Amino acid sequence: KKPGAKAARGLRFEPVAPNTHDAVTVPAGYEQNVVIRWGEPILRGAPAFDPENQSAKAQAGQFGYNCDFLSLLPLPGEHGRQILVANHEYTDEVLMFRGYDAANPTREQVEIAWAAHGLAAVVVEGDRRTGKLVAVPRHPLNRRVTATTEFRVTGPAAGSDLLKTSADPTGRKVLGTLNNCSGGTTPWGTTLHGEENFNQYFANASRPTDARYGLPTGASERKWERFDKRFDVAQEPNEPHRFGYVVEFDPYDPTSTPRKHTALGRFKHEGATVRLTDDGRPVVYTGDDERFDYFYKFVGSKRMMKGQSRAAREHNLSLLDEGTLYVAKLTGDSPAIEIDGTGKLPSDGEFDGSGEWIPLATATAKGAVSHVEGMTAEEVFVFTRLAGDKVGATKMDRPEDIEPNPATGKVYVALTNNSRRGTTGNAPVDEANPRIGNKHGQVLELTERWNRADSTRFAWTLFLVAGDPADPSTYFAGFPKDQVSPISCPDNVAFDPHGNLWISTDGNALGTHDGLFGVATRGDRRGELKQFLTMPNGAETCGPIVQDRRVLVAVQHPGEIDGATVDNPASVWPDGPGKIVRPAVVAVWRADGRDIGV
Ligand code: FEO
Ligand code: CA
Ligand code: CA
Ligand code: CA
Repeated sequence: KKPGAKAARGLRFEPVAPNTHDAVTVPAGYEQNVVIRWGEPILRGAPAFDPENQSAKAQAGQFGYNCDFLSLLPLPGEHGRQILVANHEYTDEVLMFRGYDAANPTREQVEIAWAAHGLAAVVVEGDRRTGKLVAVPRHPLNRRVTATTEFRVTGPAAGSDLLKTSADPTGRKVLGTLNNCSGGTTPWGTTLHGEENFNQYFANASRPTDARYGLPTGASERKWERFDKRFDVAQEPNEPHRFGYVVEFDPYDPTSTPRKHTALGRFKHEGATVRLTDDGRPVVYTGDDERFDYFYKFVGSKRMMKGQSRAAREHNLSLLDEGTLYVAKLTGDSPAIEIDGTGKLPSDGEFDGSGEWIPLATATAKGAVSHVEGMTAEEVFVFTRLAGDKVGATKMDRPEDIEPNPATGKVYVALTNNSRRGTTGNAPVDEANPRIGNKHGQVLELTERWNRADSTRFAWTLFLVAGDPADPSTYFAGFPKDQVSPISCPDNVAFDPHGNLWISTDGNALGTHDGLFGVATRGDRRGELKQFLTMPNGAETCGPIVQDRRVLVAVQHPGEIDGATVDNPASVWPDGPGKIVRPAVVAVWRADGRDIGV
């Protein structure tokens, strides 16, 4: 009998056992290649990677550091090629620079870090017979966006006094994007990127709004404020109000100015994923990755124009400027819950309930209207967390990626973990966040009323309560727990062509490495979860993209283990002993050329 032959279609592979190998480990019968690594030149004129002689100028033409979200877009007219867009979330200076002195970084090191942040677009070419994918350097569509690239601010807070600085009195022009974590691909052919932990780059903050966003009161970790005063909040108080947005990037126009969309609110945006209403308006789901923070939905008021004409592309780039921003409030339906330690389920047997989308503010062509008492619309869009606080939104266990399943319309919310849940002085457990000191996280499944993207009511159920299946508090949508892989700390999610949910993890608290998992969402195998690959030492799994013939993942922060440095590495991935550890993108395919998991 073929191993795993009875599994759900798309998940018929031998699961990879939990392990601590310093490698990307894939199922038997599958092969892999490194598509592109940190430092590989992608722009014309960029030099080959030389970690001992790196410069900011070189880095600005090379693939950035710590890749997270990945998107693959079609490239009509160039057979076998696609455009890969990647987020470069943050830099890991001790693993980039030999002898790095964190107390006294040099200007060159800081400018290299600026150039290693942001986004990359790079054309990739598939092998005709296998799933192997290689980068096409110097392609005219290849592009880097960094911490110093010019952005245009759009939507209701563009031009607001809250966004004006000494360098930009218009409040409409920002240099750079920071901490792009996950993201999404729009139906109109652009990409969205969440600016997540932007707080860490700023120093000397003191206002209550800064505190709500976690900005440091003293020096920042990377000391950028010494090299550009805009990172010193005491000198440029509005600069942090210009980060924390969803940004939109047009990979088909290398001269375009990327945008920051204020209508989607300002918080630690994990990512942003789009679906369309029945009449063609965009709906964007986005999570705020913080302990006890919220998740949100934006419902646009303008319809997408079909086609790729210049007029259609220009119109569609304005779709996220007008509409209503909502925050989620969830209500459980069980009279009592008793889970942690005891393994008891909620008293009605299921973690489930109902929910509503509470409107916060509406942006129109004529101006914006606040729905939150005591806050102007501008304040709602810039201090969105405070608006969520005021309307009593539900405090979640760190909302990471949120994505609608194209096969069913159900929406999946990865709640990664929350060490403080239910502890002294913090919010208690509830039916959607049921575990005290939640180490392993859960995945919530949300069904919009009538399955309509713009509904203001929904039903929800916990699809997975993650952890070791032997732990009685775990739950895998009712699937027999002796037949699933252990999983901990769900983060990025994606769907395969069969409607299975794929989950990548970050911070596995079970003592083994992070990885990528596929799980059936419907039929009699619903909840059958299988591990597809595992990461090298210290890495989190990002991307992912699951196509018919290929799986793509980003290996983020390999070797990031306390105490590790360039001279004392915790990982030698991907190039082996003596070579610097490099975050990279990996493609995986089936050796026999057939589709993934069938
Ligand atoms: Fe960058 Fe929420 O993970
Ligand atoms: Ca219940
Ligand atoms: Ca993430
Ligand atoms: Ca994470």
